[in-house]
Amino acid sequence: MKRSEINAIQREAKEFLASHQFKLPPWAFWAPDDWKHTTEDVSEILDCMLGWDVTDFGSGDFMKRGLFLFTIRNGNLCGTSKKSYAEKIMIVRVDQETPMHFHRLKMEDIINRGGGELCLQLYASTEDEKLSDRSLTVSIDGISRTIPAGTTVRLKPGESICLEPYVYHRFWAEGSTALVGEVSLVNDDSTDNRFLEDIGRFPAIDEDEPALHLLAADYR
Ligand SMILES: [Fe+2]
Repeated sequence: MKRSEINAIQREAKEFLASHQFKLPPWAFWAPDDWKHTTEDVSEILDCMLGWDVTDFGSGDFMKRGLFLFTIRNGNLCGTSKKSYAEKIMIVRVDQETPMHFHRLKMEDIINRGGGELCLQLYASTEDEKLSDRSLTVSIDGISRTIPAGTTVRLKPGESICLEPYVYHRFWAEGSTALVGEVSLVNDDSTDNRFLEDIGRFPAIDEDEPALHLLAADYR
């Protein structure tokens, strides 16, 4: 992705989050130089990969296949954090796909916090990590439902679903852009994601202009 495109997505995200009264922590608005000059101990932010996250999953077309995320809290698997939980806020646009994947360890609740409908297509997985044709049981707002393989669950604002490890899911919004929360176990994007297709989680970045705000992937 071009840095100019990421900057534009961050600007639009700030407007969208403000329109839903969703506030980010103060360091979300730091410029890259503020990170260099701060005297605060920001090691938890860096070690746990908190902050801005924009990806096109390597598609080259963010609007078709991509996701905006901001990790608000997280632990880590290297042991410098005591946290065993994570929270993210995401912006999912109409027909913008997050491709089919599951997590090996992370159990996550995906919550529609406002805007359009959030649609999630779900499958159980087989032992060789393909899509299973078995039905699966999921918890939607604490109510257990058994659904056929490949069912698309539609969540209206206020509704949520719990996704256990090894449950394949892909999602997109319908009607209008959706504000989506995630409450989960610790998130480790370097080891825990299994995508059905061979795709990348973090985009290569063409630095065509200076960054507005560092992405978590920039901390390295
Ligand atoms: Fe997921």
